[in-house]
Amino acid sequence: MKEKILLVDNNENIRKDISNSLDRLGYHVYTAQNGEEALAVFKEVNPPVVITDIRMPVMNGIELLRRIKSQSPDTEVIIITAHGNVDFAIRSLKDGATDFLLKPISYEVLETAFRRVHERIEMRRRARESAENRAMYDTAVNNLIQEDVMVIAPDYRILEVNDTFLKKLPYDREEIIGRHCYEISHQRRTPCDGEEELCPLKDTLLSGKPSKSTHVHRGKDNQEIYHAISTYPIFKDGEIKSVIEILRDVTKDIHLHKEMLRQQKMISVGRLAAGVAHEINNPLTTILTTAMLMQEDLGQDDPDYLELKTIADEAIRCRKIISSLLNFARQSRPVIDEHDINDIVQDSIVLLRKQAAFKDVTLESKFEAGIPIARVDKAQIQQSLVNLGLNAIDAIEPGGEVIFETRFSSADSYVEVVVSDNGKGIPREHLDKIFDPFFTTKEVGTGLGMSITLGLIKQHKGTIHVESSTEKGTTFTVRLPVGSGKSNE
Ligand SMILES: Nc1ncnc2c1ncn2[C@@H]1O[C@H](COP(=O)(O)OP(=O)(O)OP(=O)(O)O)[C@@H](O)[C@H]1O
Ligand SMILES: [Mg+2]
Repeated sequence: MKEKILLVDNNENIRKDISNSLDRLGYHVYTAQNGEEALAVFKEVNPPVVITDIRMPVMNGIELLRRIKSQSPDTEVIIITAHGNVDFAIRSLKDGATDFLLKPISYEVLETAFRRVHERIEMRRRARESAENRAMYDTAVNNLIQEDVMVIAPDYRILEVNDTFLKKLPYDREEIIGRHCYEISHQRRTPCDGEEELCPLKDTLLSGKPSKSTHVHRGKDNQEIYHAISTYPIFKDGEIKSVIEILRDVTKDIHLHKEMLRQQKMISVGRLAAGVAHEINNPLTTILTTAMLMQEDLGQDDPDYLELKTIADEAIRCRKIISSLLNFARQSRPVIDEHDINDIVQDSIVLLRKQAAFKDVTLESKFEAGIPIARVDKAQIQQSLVNLGLNAIDAIEPGGEVIFETRFSSADSYVEVVVSDNGKGIPREHLDKIFDPFFTTKEVGTGLGMSITLGLIKQHKGTIHVESSTEKGTTFTVRLPVGSGKSNE
C-alpha cells in the first residue's frame, strides 16, 4: 500500500507539479487549498507526512503546522516557502517542522528532502522503541522478576544488575557496574576456571546457547547462598553482545533437602542401632564378666592378668558406645519442667571440670542476668552442653579456653547458650558432616555426640548453629524457645 501524504498549497499549478513529483516518489497524494481545508483532510486520512506552503488564505501554513503538531506530534510537516519568507520558514522549525524547502521545487529537491524525512521517521521510531524497551526492561527486571538478574558483557563485566540482587550484595549499584562478575560473586581476580563449578556464563559464551549450573556464593554476612544459575545469550549482528544471567536462591531448598537426608539417615541409623545394640550387649556382658572372673582367678602377678585387663577395658568401651547408640536411638520424650538456663549451664561446667583440668583448658562463663525461666528437659540440655563442651576441650591445645555464654533474645523469646573455643576449628568441608551420625575425626570418637545433641535440641524446638574457622576456633550457638516461663529475677 502506498504511503499517504497531504499537500497543501493555494496555487493550483504548484499543487499539480508537486503532486506529480510525489506520485513519482511513490506517494498517495491528498491535496488541500488552505489550512482549514487541510485540517479536515488530515482528520480524515491521518497521513504521516504533510507538505504545506506558508502563505495561504483562511489559515496559513505556520498555523496549520502548530495545529497538526498539537494533535499529532509524530506527523512530519515540511514547509514550502518562497525566498521572501525564509525567516518564517526558519521559525517554523522551532514549531516542530521537519524541514523547509525553497520554491521552485524540483523533483530532485523533493527526493532529497524525503530521504531526510524518512531518516527522521526511522530515528524517532527507534528512539520510541528503545524507550519502550527500556521501560519494559526496568519493570520486568526490577519489579516483576523475583530472581536475581545480571546482564554481563562477553569480557565478564557487569552491565546491569536488578534491585532484588542488589539488596543482597554488600555493594552499591555504582560499585558493581563495570566490575567483573567473578570479583563480585566469587571474590576472584581472574575468571573462574570451572574446575570446581562449571561457569554457565563461560559455557554460554563458548556455545552461544543457554546454560545452567548451581553455585555457592557468599552473601552480606559471608553466609553461603546456593544459586541455581541460568544464562541466556543476547545476539547482535550474529555475535553475542551480552549474556543475561538469572540467579535463583535455592539455599532453603538445598538445606531442606540436606535436612531430609539427615533425618532419613538418623531414622535408619536409629533403627539399626536399637536392633544391633541389644543383640551385642548380651554377649559383651558375658565377655566382660568372664574376663573379670578370670582376672580374679589368676591374680595380679600372673603374666596373663594385664591382657585380660585389656579385654575387660575394651569391652567396657564397647558398652559405652552401645549405650550412646541406644541413647541416640531411643529418642525418649523430654521431661519438661521450668529451669533457669544459667543453672543448667553451671551444672554442665561442673561436669566438664575434670576433663578440662586434665588438658589444662580453662572454662569461662558469662551469664546474662534476668533471663526468663525456660521450659526444658534439664538432663537433655545438660547432655547437649556437655557434648559441646567435650568437643571443644578435645579441639583445644593446652592453655586454651572454652567460654559458655548465656543471653536472652527478647525479639523472639529465645534463650541462647553460646559455646566457643579457641581450638583448631572445623575445616569447611567438614561443617556439613559434623551432625551426621558416626562422623568423627577422632581415633576413639563414636561420632554420635553432635547428632545426639542436634536431636535433643530439636526435640525442644530449638536450633543449633555452628561457626568455625581454623584460625579462631569454633562457636556453637544453641537457641531454645523459653516456652511459658517466668523471669528468674
Ligand atoms: N568444637 C569443635 N572443634 C573442632 N571440631 C569439632 C568441634 N566440635 C565437633 N567437632 C568435629 O565434629 C566431629 C563430630 O563430633 P561428635 O561429637 O559428633 O563426635 P566425636 O566427638 O568425634 O565423638 P564422641 O562425641 O563420641 O567423642 C568431631 O570428630 C570433630 O571433628
Ligand atoms: Mg563429641
